[in-house]
Amino acid sequence: MKILLFGKGGQLGWELQRSLAPLGPVVALDFGDRGNLCGDFTDLDGLAACVRAVAPDVIVNAAAHTAVDRAESEVELARTINALAPAILARESERLGAWLVHYSTDYVFDGGGQNPWREDDPTGPLGVYGQTKLEGERAVASCSRHLTFRTSWVYAARGNNFARTMLRLAGERDRLQVVADQIGAPTGAELLADVTAHALRSVRQRPHLAGLYHLAAAGETSWHGYARHVIEFARQSGRAIRVTADAIEAVPSCAYPVPAPRPHNSRLDTRKLQAAFDLVLPDWQSGVDRMLREILER
Ligand SMILES: NC(=O)c1ccc[n+]([C@@H]2O[C@H](COP(=O)([O-])OP(=O)(O)OC[C@H]3O[C@@H](n4cnc5c(N)ncnc54)[C@H](OP(=O)(O)O)[C@@H]3O)[C@@H](O)[C@H]2O)c1
Repeated sequence: MKILLFGKGGQLGWELQRSLAPLGPVVALDFGDRGNLCGDFTDLDGLAACVRAVAPDVIVNAAAHTAVDRAESEVELARTINALAPAILARESERLGAWLVHYSTDYVFDGGGQNPWREDDPTGPLGVYGQTKLEGERAVASCSRHLTFRTSWVYAARGNNFARTMLRLAGERDRLQVVADQIGAPTGAELLADVTAHALRSVRQRPHLAGLYHLAAAGETSWHGYARHVIEFARQSGRAIRVTADAIEAVPSCAYPVPAPRPHNSRLDTRKLQAAFDLVLPDWQSGVDRMLREILER
């Protein structure tokens, strides 16, 4: 199985380089790769030429314009990266008879209600990022052999993330305020990458499993709950932290106005994925604790 991976340097792309390696040779590209093997999603002709040159059995797209607030003022760039480039990948995958793996987001929903979103629930993105990701997943669906995984609140030990920010602020301040009215499940890039490899193995035998799936860690929390968990874990690990978990104040989203509104309900119903691929998704805390151990040991 020859695999062409885009977005290799992102949180998920980095983990996919690891998890996809046992499946076959991986050609991994990023924004900076130009010329014959173009990984720049703003160069749509270069992207198509790249797919034709590599002629992979599987394309995995981990590249995206993920700067949610910046997307509000970079509409065309966000649309090119999140929608037009995936449309090129879908067209070229279909031409080759290749599989296309793509990732989307809970931001395609409007965040209403309390129930976990199912794959066939009506969408209603609140901002440009969610809108362009929705356009991207629709384009990918035109490829008969596609797997699209909608996920939420992605983190990795590598690079910046919410937990690192909380640890830094908790070392500098006596009190913190964190939003408590957005609910979801922090999901590790490791888990996403491992499930992707597992699903790719499965669809080779059972191609009818192609489609759209919700993929997130089990359980739920708010950003406030997530922050408390991080701080409690760090204090128990002996890290010098000024803030106690009780000194983290729960505040509403309106306390932190941002250009792109966030969905309040980011819960994803993952039963379809678990049934189709015979998987159990672990609680969000187990992945977060592994990530924290890695960060704190460094
Ligand atoms: N992060 C989240 O909380 C979250 C939540 C739900 C869904 N998702 C989805 O999960 C997937 C993976 O997200 P992630 O967290 O791994 O994102 P990430 O860390 O921001 O990685 C995105 C990758 O895309 C690359 N990229 C940006 N502009 C590009 C361009 N013009 N051409 C080619 N590559 C470009 C980035 O390169 P540079 O680093 O060089 O810019 C980076 O390597 C995405 O589809 C995202 O929409 C993410």
